[in-house]
Amino acid sequence: MTGPRAYGYTDTLDAEHYAKALRADIRGGLTSTPKSTAPTWFYDARGSELFEEITQLPEYPLWRAELGLLQLHAQDVAALTGARTMVELGSGSSTKSKLIIEALGPVDLRYVPVDVSADALHQASGQLVQDYPGVRLHALRADFTNALVLPAMPEEGPRLIAFLGSTLGNFRRPGRGAFLRGLRNLLRPEDYLLLGADLVKPEHEMTAAYDDGQGVTAEFNKNLLHVLNRELDADFDPDTFDHVAVWNSAESHIEMRLRSRVEQLVKVRGLDLAVSFGRGEEWITERSAKFTVPGLEAEMSDAGLRTQQLWADPSAGFTLTLAKAV
Ligand code: SAH
Ligand code: AVI
Repeated sequence: MTGPRAYGYTDTLDAEHYAKALRADIRGGLTSTPKSTAPTWFYDARGSELFEEITQLPEYPLWRAELGLLQLHAQDVAALTGARTMVELGSGSSTKSKLIIEALGPVDLRYVPVDVSADALHQASGQLVQDYPGVRLHALRADFTNALVLPAMPEEGPRLIAFLGSTLGNFRRPGRGAFLRGLRNLLRPEDYLLLGADLVKPEHEMTAAYDDGQGVTAEFNKNLLHVLNRELDADFDPDTFDHVAVWNSAESHIEMRLRSRVEQLVKVRGLDLAVSFGRGEEWITERSAKFTVPGLEAEMSDAGLRTQQLWADPSAGFTLTLAKAV
């Protein structure tokens, strides 16, 4: 028998809310030209597991570069912010968060992981409260593309809002600016934002990061088809699609796509929709923007965020920025 949870949990994405958002995005995305859907739907239990595998791939150094920067600078983050609450958007396994939690001092620290994946939240939260019994943890299942309502946390002290992994890159402009402004509006004068961003590098390195030799990223991409088959009673045959990763220099992002090998009509019964694919037609399933330091600073400044400190790993081309609301 399982006992009561040792952490708080708020689910703002009940089955109805999740289904509604999924249906709206997939209907809109599969009836537009080119077909293009949000990356949010990759992350069922299998998708989260596959992302964890991606983080260990030699071709995907950005996750480890950020881990390295946190190993070097989590103490600086703690000293500069004095935060007593950490809110983390898209927290996933919370692996890197542990470094910040330890630096901030885990006794009487509030930690609010926010993720769309219930499995990732429960797995990470269960482990964290065991490892750090002094942390007051409240997991929030929410879609961070919508306005965030944080759980009430008495005596929360200064907040650190962490958005790691370069997940900011999964937003496209101009929506990215609106998202950053939303984050800025969550910050009170004493609060800070910690933002991880992957930088532009030679094209072959960027495309390899999204098309690894073992095919893990291909499986992650095709996992979307399994999610849609299950959640929307669709009949996608993953074997009729190829995984593609392309650098779009005009938009400074990598596009992950699924390319139909054949001309086909796919039924999405849950949407009462039949979707036709031409042979070779490509559907954009994710955009991962790559930044330059001045470009990122300009975007942050436009959103009312002022950089306090920037840490960079020049060899891996990754930055961590600590910012405050102007
Ligand atoms: N920050 C973690 C995980 C990055 S993977 C790390 O660096 O290791 C991206 C995470 O964001 C996944 O856990 C996924 O479930 C979550 N996610 C994706 N879209 C989301 C959305 N719209 N709202 C909330 N979480 C989302
Ligand atoms: C979570 N996000 C920042 C990852 C990225 O790099 O865009 C997800 C990912 N997609 C393919 N590989 C990793």
